[in-house]
Amino acid sequence: MTQAISVFSFPTRIVFGPGALRELGAEAERLGIERPLLVTDAGVVACGIAERVDSQARAAGLRPALFSDVNPNPVENNVHDGLEAYRRENCDGVIGLGGGSPLDTAKAIRLVATHPFPLEQYDDQLDGGAKIRAGLPPMIAIATTAGTGSEVGRSTVIILKSNDRKTVIFSPHLMPDVAIADPELTLGMPPKITAGTGLDALTHNVEAYLARGFHPLCDAIALQGARLAFQNLPRAVRNGRDLEARSNMLMAAMMGAVAFQKGLGAVHSLAHPLSSIANLHHGTVNGILLPHVLEFNREVSEERLRDLAVAMEIQTSGRSTAESAAALIARLRKFLEEVDIPPTLGALGIRVEMIPLLAKKAMEDACHQSNPRACSESDMVALYQRAL
Ligand SMILES: [Fe+2]
Repeated sequence: MTQAISVFSFPTRIVFGPGALRELGAEAERLGIERPLLVTDAGVVACGIAERVDSQARAAGLRPALFSDVNPNPVENNVHDGLEAYRRENCDGVIGLGGGSPLDTAKAIRLVATHPFPLEQYDDQLDGGAKIRAGLPPMIAIATTAGTGSEVGRSTVIILKSNDRKTVIFSPHLMPDVAIADPELTLGMPPKITAGTGLDALTHNVEAYLARGFHPLCDAIALQGARLAFQNLPRAVRNGRDLEARSNMLMAAMMGAVAFQKGLGAVHSLAHPLSSIANLHHGTVNGILLPHVLEFNREVSEERLRDLAVAMEIQTSGRSTAESAAALIARLRKFLEEVDIPPTLGALGIRVEMIPLLAKKAMEDACHQSNPRACSESDMVALYQRAL
């Protein structure tokens, strides 16, 4: 039960399934796009997917202009350069193509096409989303990874010049007009990226389910999303051509992003500085941190951890709530071994002397505010130490 008034909305249009890319022309026509800026990154260009989408667009009568200068953790300058390309090429819409980085950059480019810089003024922590008005250029999001779910999300995360941190900008107007989710585009993802991005999807669902706040709709989506990610990620890592596992992971990623409008948690606050300071892969560090944060949360989240164990079909019969919660955390540790991610942050080059700065930045990050157990800076230090 809740005493407050809540607002719920799930308005994303999603075109989902093997071959969904073929709908690109029809979706662009529906939105009145003829000359899209195709925002992607060097990796998507190198694996040939950018060319595939470009050909599909041209066959449908579109005239895309390519912009691929996007960092793995996008920075404000990428947005500046993208806007310049958007204006120079006289574009009338944006196609974001890739994982979270190109999709988030594409969202930020459509923002600054109608709103002034600097991006700092739209910072979610300063309630900057209120400054964002309707009327952004239309956007089609095409996912090539199954991770962030940015294709259905209404936020963008960019490292800003002014504060040097991954800054969340949140507004319903940032949500793409349509997400094209074609699992065939994810078939070629190498095992390491599959594991890293998939762990981001799993973490979104788990953290959303545990997050404080009243959102039974998101809770239901998060449980099913966590189950899909848990059951399909090892398959997709082992055999990248498994179209069913890829489809389920792509769906799990979108479900995670829809669910986390409820909120995330301390895993994400700890993970964000590891990307902005040490440039580590977001989903991979989420995976490393997840069991440690669940252990930290356990004393206040036992029932919800048990629910997750039930959803994931981890044995709970004959076990108490506390035992089921413990079994879930133990199973997740084993799961990380199965998908072959490095077991510690130390294995990725993080050193103990980096922890004070990381912990300070983790506290500045807003995600932990919805963590089920309140976190202090010394808790953050302890969590980094345990994951080291
Ligand atoms: Fe994430």
